[in-house]
Amino acid sequence: MQFNKKTIWITGASSGIGKAVALKISEEKSHLILSGRNKEELENVALVCKQNGSKTTVVPFDLGDEKSVEEAANKVFSKDINIDALYHFGGISQRSFVSETPLFVDRRIFEINYFGTIALTKAILPKMIQRGGGHLAVTSSIVGKFGFPYRSSYSASKHALHGFFESLRAENVQNNIKVSIIIPGRIKTNISINAINKEGKTHATMDDGQGNGMSAEKSAEIICKKLKREKKEILVGGKEIIMVYIRRFLPFLYYRLSSRVKPL
Ligand SMILES: NC(=O)c1ccc[n+]([C@@H]2O[C@H](COP(=O)([O-])OP(=O)(O)OC[C@H]3O[C@@H](n4cnc5c(N)ncnc54)[C@H](OP(=O)(O)O)[C@@H]3O)[C@@H](O)[C@H]2O)c1
Repeated sequence: MQFNKKTIWITGASSGIGKAVALKISEEKSHLILSGRNKEELENVALVCKQNGSKTTVVPFDLGDEKSVEEAANKVFSKDINIDALYHFGGISQRSFVSETPLFVDRRIFEINYFGTIALTKAILPKMIQRGGGHLAVTSSIVGKFGFPYRSSYSASKHALHGFFESLRAENVQNNIKVSIIIPGRIKTNISINAINKEGKTHATMDDGQGNGMSAEKSAEIICKKLKREKKEILVGGKEIIMVYIRRFLPFLYYRLSSRVKPL
C-alpha cells in the first residue's frame, strides 16, 4: 500500500492517533477524507494536510448514529470519490465496573466502536470489491486481546472487531481486500478524558496510563510503516504490549495480574 496519490478515508481524524496518522500520510501527497464529529478540528487537520501537499475532503459524522454514517458514505459516493483505503480510528473508551454500569452505556460503546465502524465498512466494501481491491484497517486495543478491569464493554467491542474483520478478511482474500488490525497499548491522547463512565458522562481525566504513554506522533510513525506493508496485526505502544504475549503464553500469570490491576 503506497499512500501517494491514493484516496484514504480516516475516521477519528479530529484527535489523537487518527489525527497523527492523517498528518503523517498527508506528507505523501494523497487525498484524505477526514471524519469525526468535530468539524472545526477536522478543518484544522485538513489545513495542515493541505500545507503538506495533500488534497482533503472533510466529512463529519457520528459513528453512534446509523443514519449519519449512511449519509456520510452517500456524500462521498455522490462526489464520485473512489476509496483505496479506509482506516478506522474513531472510538471511545470506558471507565466503569460491570456491576455499576447500566446497559445503555454498554450499548453506546458498541454503537460507536462496533456498529458504527462496521456500518461504514459495509458501505465501502462492495465498491472496493468492484474496483478490484482495497485496504481496510481498524483500531482495536490490547484489551481487544484480553479482558481488563473497568473496560468491560470497551474490551468486548474491540474483541468483536477482531471477529468481524478476521471474518471479512477470510471472505475477501480473492477480492484483493487487505485487512490490518491496529492494536495500541497506551498512547498519550484524550482517550481517557473522552471515555464514558457509569453515568454515560465523560471520565474527564487524563489517566496515568495514557499520560505516560507513547506519543500519538510516534505511534503514527509505527502504524504508517506497518500499514504500508499491509500487516495483518499492528501492535504499537510501550512495555504494556507484553501483556498480549503473557495472555497467550502464560495465561495463569495474566489471570493473576489482571485481578490485581488498579481500576484506572
Ligand atoms: N490512546 C490509547 O491509549 C488507545 C489504546 C488502545 C486503543 N485506542 C484506540 O485508538 C483509537 C483512537 O483513539 P485516540 O487514542 O486517538 O483517542 P481520542 O483522541 O479520544 O480520539 C478519538 C477519535 O474518535 C472520534 N470519535 C469518538 N466518538 C465518535 C463518534 N460518536 N462519532 C465519530 N467519531 C467519534 C473522535 O472524534 P470527534 O470527537 O470529533 O467525534 C476522535 O477523533 C480508538 O479506537 C481507541 O479505542 C487508543
